Amino acid sequence: MAGFKTLDDIGAVGGKRVLVRVDLNVPVADGRVTDATRIERIAPTISELSGKGARVILLAHFGRPKDGPSAEFSLEPIARATAEVLGRPVGFASDCIGDKAADAVAAMKDGDVLLLENTRFHKAEEKNDQAFTEKLAANGDIYVNDAFSAAHRAHASTEGLAHRLPAYAGRTMQAELDALEKGLGNPARPVVAIVGGAKVSTKIDLLMNLVKKVDALVIGGGMANTFLAARGTDVGKSLCEHDLASTSKQIMIEAAEAGCAIILPTDGVVAKEFKAGAASQTVAISDMPADGMILDVGEKTVKSVTDWIDRAATLVWNGPLGAFEIEPFDRATVAAAKHAAARTKEGKLVSVAGGGDTVAALNHAGVADDFTYVSTAGGAFLEWMEGKPLPGVEVLKR
Ligand code: 3PG
Ligand code: MG
Repeated sequence: MAGFKTLDDIGAVGGKRVLVRVDLNVPVADGRVTDATRIERIAPTISELSGKGARVILLAHFGRPKDGPSAEFSLEPIARATAEVLGRPVGFASDCIGDKAADAVAAMKDGDVLLLENTRFHKAEEKNDQAFTEKLAANGDIYVNDAFSAAHRAHASTEGLAHRLPAYAGRTMQAELDALEKGLGNPARPVVAIVGGAKVSTKIDLLMNLVKKVDALVIGGGMANTFLAARGTDVGKSLCEHDLASTSKQIMIEAAEAGCAIILPTDGVVAKEFKAGAASQTVAISDMPADGMILDVGEKTVKSVTDWIDRAATLVWNGPLGAFEIEPFDRATVAAAKHAAARTKEGKLVSVAGGGDTVAALNHAGVADDFTYVSTAGGAFLEWMEGKPLPGVEVLKR
């Protein structure tokens, strides 16, 4: 892949100690991993390196521990889950530096896989501290970063190590960068973006960047209400950030200047309470009842969204169109997701989606596998959509 060194460039790894930064920040309930997607995504890199006789040493964080080591944030249960996904043993060392790590690494044979304990048990990790980076580097000959979803962090294990050891992008990082390049870097046009979710306030930078890059921007979810209100529409009791009216107007002005169409809902599914199965009706946005809340976009809006998807060569999607977690307010998100998946299957659309809620929504619609690429990254995907350089990616550039 242009611009980045990948495993294709790594040369002979037999007998070498390869430090692989992975993202094992997976959801866990009652000590069990409830969604192993991130573990599945790193399997190709681990298998490839191990298959070539490398000693594969995994570095990862888990959660946001504040005060050093704790059982709560230990990676040990995740080592077991990783072994299950890989179908092979995965060793574990109870520290990522020092004697415990060194002893476990020294005991490895060619092809072995070892996971080191949570890098964030050391405060120096998040400070990208040089002495700490040296201690991590002491266990490896080569560094591979396969954690795009942690690449927005300039930490020792995500950025520092790449300065210290020969550094390469792993297969998942590579796939992610490839997909993102197709999504916004150098996309087939027209490009349509769908941005949803609750709040404009968390996505101002993203919207400002997108209007300069895409041909049409569909705004859905609670954040659409803020735009509608800014345009003078009464949104009743809907979620709305009235204090962001001028920001929303500015985004619409920038869009007009850049020739980016903004698509706002023309109808909404309205209820008096926010709960599953609440009585609802579809109304034109101009006829909002004063005591109603818009919980999803209506059918006319869905039609306009799917029309835009039909016109698009590339779709970038972040955030659901409605309150998809509760029925029946998942309908628009599901319909649009299915439509995009079908166009992708027909070979007419490159579809790239990411962000926590988005993946959950696409899984709910049953179409995550039919998109061109679904990123498992949350914050990193957003920062990429905002057009910000990601430290863990920048450092891998040739
Ligand atoms: C994530 O879960 O988004 C990544 O693993 C990064 O985690 P962080 O937000 O705690 O840095
Ligand atoms: Mg996060």
